[in-house]
Amino acid sequence: MGPEADPFLLSVTGLATHFPTEGGVVRAVDDLNLTLKRGETVAIVGESGSGKSVTCLSILGLIDPPGHVASGKALFRRKSGDVVDLCALSERDLRAIRGDEIAMIFQEPMTSLNPLYTVGDQIAEAIEEHRRFKRREAWQEAVKLLTRVGIADAEVRANDYPHQMSGGMRQRVMIAIALSCQPSILVADEPTTALDVTIQAQILDLLRTLKASDAGMSIIFVTHNMGVVAEMADQVMVMYGGRVVESGPVDDIFQTPRHPYTRGLLASIAHAGSRSRGERQPLAAIPGNVPSPLDLPPGCTFEPRCGDARPECRLAVPPLETISAGRQTRCIRWRELT
Ligand SMILES: Nc1ncnc2c1ncn2[C@@H]1O[C@H](COP(=O)(O)OP(=O)(O)OP(=O)(O)O)[C@@H](O)[C@H]1O
Ligand code: SF4
Ligand SMILES: [Mg+2]
Repeated sequence: MGPEADPFLLSVTGLATHFPTEGGVVRAVDDLNLTLKRGETVAIVGESGSGKSVTCLSILGLIDPPGHVASGKALFRRKSGDVVDLCALSERDLRAIRGDEIAMIFQEPMTSLNPLYTVGDQIAEAIEEHRRFKRREAWQEAVKLLTRVGIADAEVRANDYPHQMSGGMRQRVMIAIALSCQPSILVADEPTTALDVTIQAQILDLLRTLKASDAGMSIIFVTHNMGVVAEMADQVMVMYGGRVVESGPVDDIFQTPRHPYTRGLLASIAHAGSRSRGERQPLAAIPGNVPSPLDLPPGCTFEPRCGDARPECRLAVPPLETISAGRQTRCIRWRELT
């Protein structure tokens, strides 16, 4: 592939992920498109069960059978310049990319850390795995990384075991491990949800600082809080019932939301107070519940909760319509409602 002005780093098209269950097939993600450029942060936002985590896990090749990616592509530009389809790679090739070119951090850092080893050892091991460092150099690099993620006295704290650290410190350690391989993409799935509000804000600040200092790194940031989206993202993808219902640049989405669900999410942060930060704020405003994935309403999935619904909204799943450059919405009434 020849050089382009602004090539994608990741281009997901038509992604569908299914889980066969006793009650039927859960279509957790359906017809999902996502483009990520170098240095960009895309936030995936939506209520619980909307398919945010399954989207990330699908891209990472981490869906446990019998769940599977039923269709779609996830083209990823490797550091070598080669473009590969993450959905079609062998487990061995995926493993080479995961943790090396695409790193991830999750909600609960304790479950990802080994309680039997010091955090310094665990970071050093990650470094040795991905870069040709000797043990001593890897340890020194681990201390540097701990300093970079804001841990004071890193030389001493590197000798701590995970249980000797607070939740916020452990998440910093996870971020250090993720950064140890200098990834092209950091996937962060609600990385601050388990932390208390002040610590959440500190971790968000840290992620922003790290991104500013490493202009090449892209982030896929999952949250259910629009306030966090405003602070973190360049691009936003709003999900509902396994589908993208609206996407576009963050300022556009906040200034002119075109989907009633996006408006609902925005109203919920206005409700929680525009100055509130962190992810523990209650999502107030949208009445009703996310539908069961085994019993999705016909037509527009949001119809049962939508104050603007009309009978025709039940007839067919609205297409994801491009409404301007880089801007899409999945509502048949978006023009009238504007
Ligand atoms: N292994 C599985 N087997 C069956 N269904 C699953 C499985 N994993 C996820 N699902 C279903 O897929 C849908 C999407 O789940 P997902 O975890 O992506 O939601 P989410 O948006 O990340 O929610 P949350 O904010 O709670 O993390 C949900 O209905 C969930 O129940
Ligand atoms: S298609 Fe109809 S029900 Fe769905 S969001 Fe638009 S107005 Fe509401
Ligand atoms: Mg999730």
